[in-house]
Amino acid sequence: MSKVYLLLFLCISLLSNAQDITKEQRMQWFEDAKLGIFIHWGIYSVNGTSESWAFYNGHVSHTDYMKQIEGFTAEKWSPVNWATLIKESGAQYTVITTKHHDGVALWGTKFGNSNMLHNSPAKRDLITPFSKAIREQGLKLGVYYSLIDWSYPDYPNFTRKQKRYENDSSRFAKFTKYNLGQIKELGKFKPDLYWFDGDWEQSAERWKAIEIREMILESNPNAIINSRLRGYGDYATPEQGVPIHKPNGRYWELCLTMNDSWGYYPTDTSYKSVNQVIRIFVDVISKGGNLLLDIGPKADGTIPEEQVAILKGLGRWTKKHKEAIYGSRAGLPADYFNGYSAISKDSTTLYLYLDNQPTGEVLVKGLLNKVKRAYVVGSAKEISTQVLGKLSWSKAPGLLYINLPENLQDQDVTVIALELEGTVKLYNQISGVQTDSD
Ligand code: GLC
Repeated sequence: MSKVYLLLFLCISLLSNAQDITKEQRMQWFEDAKLGIFIHWGIYSVNGTSESWAFYNGHVSHTDYMKQIEGFTAEKWSPVNWATLIKESGAQYTVITTKHHDGVALWGTKFGNSNMLHNSPAKRDLITPFSKAIREQGLKLGVYYSLIDWSYPDYPNFTRKQKRYENDSSRFAKFTKYNLGQIKELGKFKPDLYWFDGDWEQSAERWKAIEIREMILESNPNAIINSRLRGYGDYATPEQGVPIHKPNGRYWELCLTMNDSWGYYPTDTSYKSVNQVIRIFVDVISKGGNLLLDIGPKADGTIPEEQVAILKGLGRWTKKHKEAIYGSRAGLPADYFNGYSAISKDSTTLYLYLDNQPTGEVLVKGLLNKVKRAYVVGSAKEISTQVLGKLSWSKAPGLLYINLPENLQDQDVTVIALELEGTVKLYNQISGVQTDSD
């Protein structure tokens, strides 16, 4: 290798190392957070239609859909109450729709034709007081921003059946100026997280994904960006389906509705129960991800009671089990424990989430560490463990049985903590038989 190439190679590897470290540092709070609350608030809550898709899919005309803005009052809205409730749920961050695919901005933007300050009877910039209330609770702020704006006169797509134009670079340039202008403006709220959506309609080049990413990181080097920027983001965002397998990549977040709708949709009553939400949550934690659980407030600014009840129920559980949630990392592979589990950041405490009532002792296989102490999280009561089947001639660690008294069980998901001697070590031989080659 010539000296020039060697120098170039060294520079590149130094640079990429620097970037890795930066990403890790930027992502740290996110990786530890585990729970966020998503908020879909917009004019669609006035008639309880589906957010933006109602006109795109032709269920109502665009004119009728947009008329909903006349009913958006936010008259009973208390950003402080929202922030308090979000905090009570145990969430560490929130992501609010600042503009959905319908193009209505929730803040008093200088760009575009429709926002809540200038065009709705609410006559308010909603993001300013919300971000203040969120910060006062010590929570991180995320801004959802739809790259798509189906209402903007210079955006090519209007509805599923109607396009404004196919190729018109000067019209698309007008749209781009508007979009980039709004994204830059959002910087005044100092978002910790930018949550883009709708990237599927254009290429990275057309969206100017690289420029957007650079613009954000220039104004706030600590900001993090979700993946829906044509791959120029920091973490994956599976939607609705709880992943069967741990998604690829270190950072991910499942966004999930409580019923089947993102926004307020009173006829949709298929709510998950508190218990079901908690069990989904532990599934997500056990795979090392975050849950971004959605609420859809009403146009007057109140949150539907079913949603309040879920946030409070979740809050009861997260408060009791906080040590087994925040900062935890993905747990044991399924072959070792028949359930969900996580490990503390320092890898010395194993958390077993029991999402059903055991009929006998709880079993962990293949754990090479000795257990220093076992207890039920939230009760601080020690419980007994027993290792059976540990044979002197075999390297297999035997079977670890944990005795869980019924009176210590949680009404939703009981969590057992196992404090280990040293960092977790798992036995992974195919068979416990010692051979000559061992
Ligand atoms: C989808 C939908 C959108 C919703 C979002 C939330 O991209 O288009 O309506 O806001 O998912 O993840």
